[in-house]
Amino acid sequence: MKQALVTLAMAAGALVVMTASAVAQQASFPAPAWSRTTAAAQNRGSLTERGAAVFNNWCTVCHGKDVKNAPGTQSLQYKYQGKLPAALEERRDLTAKSVKFYVRKGVATMPFFRKTEIGDADLDALAAYLSQGKP
Ligand code: HEC
Repeated sequence: MKQALVTLAMAAGALVVMTASAVAQQASFPAPAWSRTTAAAQNRGSLTERGAAVFNNWCTVCHGKDVKNAPGTQSLQYKYQGKLPAALEERRDLTAKSVKFYVRKGVATMPFFRKTEIGDADLDALAAYLSQGKP
């Protein structure tokens, strides 16, 4: 009897997990499974608002402002030694062209992103956000 109850509880748990992931998959834009933040809508608002959402969904996991928790921010802190801000969102020197280059090619331990992950329109928005509109 006890065995049957345990099995039933496990089946119910699995159902909850399956339902939750089915709901998560209904988002109309892609978001990586490893993102630590709640996926933001990449398809609403101004160009820079959409870019901020793409950054939130795809980049903050490594480039967040909390250095301790962000390997990308940590690497850039080491690379620039305080000459430039370690957090990408605080940089004022990035151009859209350079952002697109790094996102499509990757660098060191940063992966490159495919068009099925970050489409060209989303990359335009992301680049505009990080470059404050500099081409
Ligand atoms: C898995 C972690 C990771 C993810 C996810 C990631 N990056 Fe990076 N990124 C890094 C690391 C680490 C570096 C530093 C590499 C080095 O030491 O030169 C870096 C470097 C960069 C640089 C170069 C900056 C410079 O001055 O050298 C840019 C631009 C950049 N990332 C943009 C992005 C954007 C935009 C995204 C989201 C689409 C992103 N990254 C996602 C880890 C990541």
